Amino acid sequence: MSPLLTRRHLIAGAAGLAGTAGVVAVAADRNTPKLVNPRAEAVRRTELARRRPGAATVRATLTPRPVTLDLGGVTVDTWGYAEAAPGPLIRAKAGDLLRVDVVNDLPADTSVHWHGIALRNDMDGVPGVTQDPIGAGGRFTYEFTLPNSGTYFYHPHSGVQLDRALYGVLIVDDPNDAGRYDQEWIVVLDDWVDGTGRTPEDVLAALGGNAGGMHGGHGMNHGAGMPIGGGEMESMMSPLLGGAGDVDYPHYLINGRVPAAPVTLTARPRQRVRLRLVNAASDTAFRVALGGHRLTVTHTDGFPVVPDVTDALVVGMGERVDVEVVVADGVFPLVAVAEGKTGQALAVVRTGDGRPPSAQVRPAELDRRVILANRLRAADSVWLPQRAPDRTHELVLGGGMMPYRWTINGKTFTNAEPLLAREGERVRLRMVNQTMMFHPMHVHGHTFALRDGGPRKDTVIVTPHQSVTVDLDADNPGQWMTHCHNIYHAETGMMINLAYQP
Ligand code: C2O
Ligand code: CU
Repeated sequence: MSPLLTRRHLIAGAAGLAGTAGVVAVAADRNTPKLVNPRAEAVRRTELARRRPGAATVRATLTPRPVTLDLGGVTVDTWGYAEAAPGPLIRAKAGDLLRVDVVNDLPADTSVHWHGIALRNDMDGVPGVTQDPIGAGGRFTYEFTLPNSGTYFYHPHSGVQLDRALYGVLIVDDPNDAGRYDQEWIVVLDDWVDGTGRTPEDVLAALGGNAGGMHGGHGMNHGAGMPIGGGEMESMMSPLLGGAGDVDYPHYLINGRVPAAPVTLTARPRQRVRLRLVNAASDTAFRVALGGHRLTVTHTDGFPVVPDVTDALVVGMGERVDVEVVVADGVFPLVAVAEGKTGQALAVVRTGDGRPPSAQVRPAELDRRVILANRLRAADSVWLPQRAPDRTHELVLGGGMMPYRWTINGKTFTNAEPLLAREGERVRLRMVNQTMMFHPMHVHGHTFALRDGGPRKDTVIVTPHQSVTVDLDADNPGQWMTHCHNIYHAETGMMINLAYQP
């Protein structure tokens, strides 16, 4: 059965569908609310309002394809956007139009999602919802305005492909940032399994997961019954996050390298450096610290916060955190510990002479003040004005390991009733975690606000048996996936549609 045909709630009003294949084109039955089609006039109008006269067009090409990567003495066959992980850096200014040609050289369907960008709905890259999948050998051109500056990333929204090397950073520069820092380091965190004897699809099968999410298996080597890891599942536990993750990965990477052969980040002593941290992992939150330094957090998920000085911070899957640091003279470890798991990622910061750190180095900062991005405060410039919500949706996060199935409001994605909204409304989402695991919950196309002056974010960690309430302005009509950014949770059901009605 095609999941498309069962997803009757995604079905949109009739506008603009003639001649398009498949996507949300199934006829609605009488009891189903009419929803804004990704190709609706409202979507086009919203995009036109974002366009700025004289804006530049930034062009890029992405060719997802089979690649062989050297992770630093570990060679893996995998899928990537380049002969390296992460894929190509895409960089533009706020207000620019981004045009990306995707040429799919994979032996499978794919798509590209622009994580965190408030873009036009038909460019959001969700197969079966906002577009047809890009078939093997096929092409698709994404074109949209980049409304807000910040640190973003892109990845497929197809199966568990994110758990390969299919990710890259998208930076939208703010012209007002010029001169605020001397150096910039882009630091991408990842958990790695592909090509080490298991594919991500093997991992999903071993967990016992049915793809009750969107896409079903796209795996080439679909194998069942493979061991999950070193039998350490029971011991994976983070006091900070509650759970830790479901998969024990053999490697953790910073900028595509294992700790035995780390990348080196350079600057001159006393320079002010901006680090843009991106967690592109599928099942791992990281605790990040720079030996010998404190870090000033300046942004999360692209949006500025009241600067907060900390020794270490936790970055969940899909979250981005920007920090500034004035670097000392010498050689220092930048460590990203797999939170609650065994293992870490490493980069070497070098501003002067000194011996490189060992792969197991554990800076004391990791165990001093540690913050989650949830605890930050929004900068004044990005406060969401106070307003009573027009509607409140509760999202009860449920499920577990046995069977491996994750739900929102008791349902997997294919069976879930959508969260309805209308353009112009203030919408409140109350996420209640009834599971033993933490879930980094992500909303497409919007940047919500945490309550009481909390930060603007698009991805927020909800820890076990806690709830997080966020508000957003429904100003971007379309159909927007709302899901856990643990890719195995999302793929086995923890996803729901934030659905605009006309
Ligand atoms: Cu980065 Cu729907 O995800
Ligand atoms: Cu989850």
